[in-house]
Amino acid sequence: MFSRLSLAAFVIAAAISACQGVAVLSARDLPANCARNYTVVPGDFCDAISAKENVSSFQLALVNKGVVDSACDNLFPGEVICLGTTGQDCTTNHVIQSGDTCTSIADAAGISFGTLLANNKNVDNACDNIFPGEVLCTASDVIPYSS
Ligand SMILES: *[C@@H]1O[C@H](CO)[C@@H](O)[C@H](O)[C@H]1NC(C)=O
Ligand SMILES: *[C@@H]1O[C@H](CO)[C@@H](O)[C@H](O)[C@H]1NC(C)=O
Repeated sequence: MFSRLSLAAFVIAAAISACQGVAVLSARDLPANCARNYTVVPGDFCDAISAKENVSSFQLALVNKGVVDSACDNLFPGEVICLGTTGQDCTTNHVIQSGDTCTSIADAAGISFGTLLANNKNVDNACDNIFPGEVLCTASDVIPYSS
């Protein structure tokens, strides 16, 4: 009887600490210097969040490295993710349309090709890996992203 009771107490204590573990984990997911956050809604995918929240595809992935996987298929409704951190937050962005090229995007934004590449480190030097729906930072300043 006594051992059954202590087992029950142990199970309850373990359940409580598991719940606390989850709470601590979701709070820890946002960087301390998170400047903007976003709560995932059903149907979201990374580039859709980027387009509606003015975040480049590169920045969203960088800020959520280790939380959102590279295929962006582990988001869940209610999850709070960070959109940008203080001092490393590009808020001028362009959603790629079909027919866009890095040159046309840079020209339209009035920035150099080099600045566009510097702020979107997921784009290769020939700019042949961009696709419609992807979001590029078109800020005129080079954002000091930590790698
Ligand atoms: C998310 O941002 C809102 C509005 O700035 C803020 O009130 C809230 O504390 C932030 N949430 C987290 C988990 O940091
Ligand atoms: C996104 O950025 C554009 C241009 O910088 C701005 O006009 C627009 O208001 C921004 N949208 C949001 C949702 O912040």
